Amino acid sequence: MAETILEVKDLVKHYPLTQGVLFKKQVGAVKAVDGVSFGLGRGETLGIVGESGCGKSTVAKMLVHLERPTAGAISYKGEDITKLSGRALKAVRRNIQMVFQDPYTSLNPRMTVGDIIGEPYDIHPEVAPKGDRRRRVQELLDVVGLNPEYINRYPHQFSGGQRQRIGIARGLALRPEVIVADEPVSALDVSVQAQVINLLARLQSEFDLSYVFIAHDLSIVRHISDRVGVMYLGRVVEIGTDTQIYDHPTHPYTQALLSAVPVPDPQARAHRERIILTGDVPSPADPPSGCPFRTRCWKAQQRCADEVPLLAVPQAFSSGPAAHPSACHFAGEIQPPRADSLR
Ligand SMILES: Nc1ncnc2c1ncn2[C@@H]1O[C@H](COP(=O)(O)OP(=O)(O)OP(=O)(O)O)[C@@H](O)[C@H]1O
Ligand code: SF4
Ligand SMILES: [Mg+2]
Repeated sequence: MAETILEVKDLVKHYPLTQGVLFKKQVGAVKAVDGVSFGLGRGETLGIVGESGCGKSTVAKMLVHLERPTAGAISYKGEDITKLSGRALKAVRRNIQMVFQDPYTSLNPRMTVGDIIGEPYDIHPEVAPKGDRRRRVQELLDVVGLNPEYINRYPHQFSGGQRQRIGIARGLALRPEVIVADEPVSALDVSVQAQVINLLARLQSEFDLSYVFIAHDLSIVRHISDRVGVMYLGRVVEIGTDTQIYDHPTHPYTQALLSAVPVPDPQARAHRERIILTGDVPSPADPPSGCPFRTRCWKAQQRCADEVPLLAVPQAFSSGPAAHPSACHFAGEIQPPRADSLR
């Protein structure tokens, strides 16, 4: 197996809820991320999916040090980077860069594309000496498929897809090893999404990059990911290879998410049961006891309220194509309907 470049262990982010104006008192916490663990191999793409508010962006921000974890560890090549500060932290931050969702708001409209892409060199001048920056930025424009002569243009002179290419060029400026891409194509037209995804795939092999790729869209995640983690209410509830997650999901939440994905093949569609989830996602300030999914799960029993299910390979699936971690007391593959019942 490839070297593990990034490892996250029991990562927690609680945002305090306070009351009072002068004397602020903590009255609770938004449990945005509540014990997330996963590994990322060199050259690998780990997709992260889940409904809005489940904590995906908060995980991303902690990985690139935009947020400090409340608890847990983030190891980069075996070293816990949550404990680092000063120079050591700066050196590590260089290697883990982020590409943001919205190419419209994440680029400063008053800066030229050259200044936007070259800005990281102000913090890390050792990567590109001043006299060499223009050439480097033009090289990066070329790498992401933009004309190097556009270096003096402003963001509004580009289309959405081109702006995301600028965002990607900026993410690459410091030659990172890991890119955390938070919904990098969600704001783009469908026709442009594929181009940006293909660009990311090409850059991955060209620069030996490892990706954490966050998205709502399960089909896009499957297309680009080697492994996929499914999040619900601040936790990873199931994780495995794309085949394990998409063809052999054992967690009811994953099964429900997948049942809502449109299937182009009418025969495959006829074989599939649509699971409609009822109820809203509970508030992360007051999550249910036991299994976080139990208020919407059609398989829930008393044990689900009493006991938190751990993310582990279920005993019933210790071998075979469905053998992968699933945080469910009653993990099980959905049985396709019997052939005779379809006639
Ligand atoms: N700074 C903050 N203070 C308080 N609560 C926050 C803060 N940032 C995020 N949250 C809350 O934490 C939870 C997780 O938010 P997060 O942005 O990580 O979700 P997400 O999975 O990225 O959602 P989306 O798909 O909508 O981008 C949400 O309930 C959100 O309201
Ligand atoms: S542990 Fe219980 S509530 Fe949670 S997903 Fe499994 S069956 Fe559903
Ligand atoms: Mg988000």
